[in-house]
Amino acid sequence: MIFYFSGTGNSQWAAEQIAELTGDEARDITKPDQISDYQNERQIGLVFPIYAWGAPELVCSFAKTLGKTKAFTFAVCTCGSEAGYAMKKLSALCPLDSSYSLVMPNNYIIGADVDDPQTVQQKINAARQEIQRLSQEILQQKRVYRVKEGTFPTLKSSFVNFGFNRFARSTKPFSVENSCDGCGLCARNCPASTIIIKEGKPVWSDLCYQCLRCINECPKQAIQYGKATQNKGRYTFHQFK
Ligand SMILES: Cc1cc2nc3c(=O)[nH]c(=O)nc-3n(C[C@H](O)[C@H](O)[C@H](O)COP(=O)(O)O)c2cc1C
Ligand code: SF4
Ligand code: SF4
Repeated sequence: MIFYFSGTGNSQWAAEQIAELTGDEARDITKPDQISDYQNERQIGLVFPIYAWGAPELVCSFAKTLGKTKAFTFAVCTCGSEAGYAMKKLSALCPLDSSYSLVMPNNYIIGADVDDPQTVQQKINAARQEIQRLSQEILQQKRVYRVKEGTFPTLKSSFVNFGFNRFARSTKPFSVENSCDGCGLCARNCPASTIIIKEGKPVWSDLCYQCLRCINECPKQAIQYGKATQNKGRYTFHQFK
């Protein structure tokens, strides 16, 4: 069984591709009805995006619940460029036999702009090849650590990641422009169920994973996060499928 979390579709696609190649099933951890008994599984996988050189807190909490298992365990993170020590830290919560990273298009438009279409396509093509390779290794239950850690992984995966989870996940900077037509997509699709539509506009409560699905998916590009997302593109995997 392959459990995944995904904000804008990269990790969902990766999980579904790996599941297809390994004869497995991909399950969304934000949907409780998709979590069934996995004790007798041959292999258990986790697929998720990197947030500030770490696994999302939601994924860490889920990994802790997996407990001891006889199954072959693996994790695959998707990241815009580098994962730091995210997989080593995750393995301390839930021992992993194999860890991989897949470099995929950037969705963190609070930090940097989206990748240009050519880079998006190159990253997806390279990820497709790596998925073929790692799926074979998973089927053979090979123990592999193939993660692009990048520079200063200790610093980034400890202090910076701590700062991100503590201070950078506020919903206060979210705002909506007049172009919003009240379609409700952002509220329906928020994995934290934190958005409601009030008088035809979205309103955010406190809990937020910072997955940036709401900002990136809005058909009117009406959502902003402070000034950081003004004049930036928007990214979702399904635009490029
Ligand atoms: C809050 C946040 C933080 C991110 N931090 C990193 C990072 O530290 N390193 C990196 O390479 N990419 C980072 N990214 C980019 C995503 O990991 C990457 O685009 C990922 O493939 C998105 O997956 P998804 O479409 O399944 O949500 C970040 C994205 C978000 C939303
Ligand atoms: S998805 Fe965009 S247009 Fe639709 S309600 Fe949300 S902010 Fe408004
Ligand atoms: S409010 Fe937006 S960024 Fe936060 S969890 Fe919901 S969809 Fe993701």
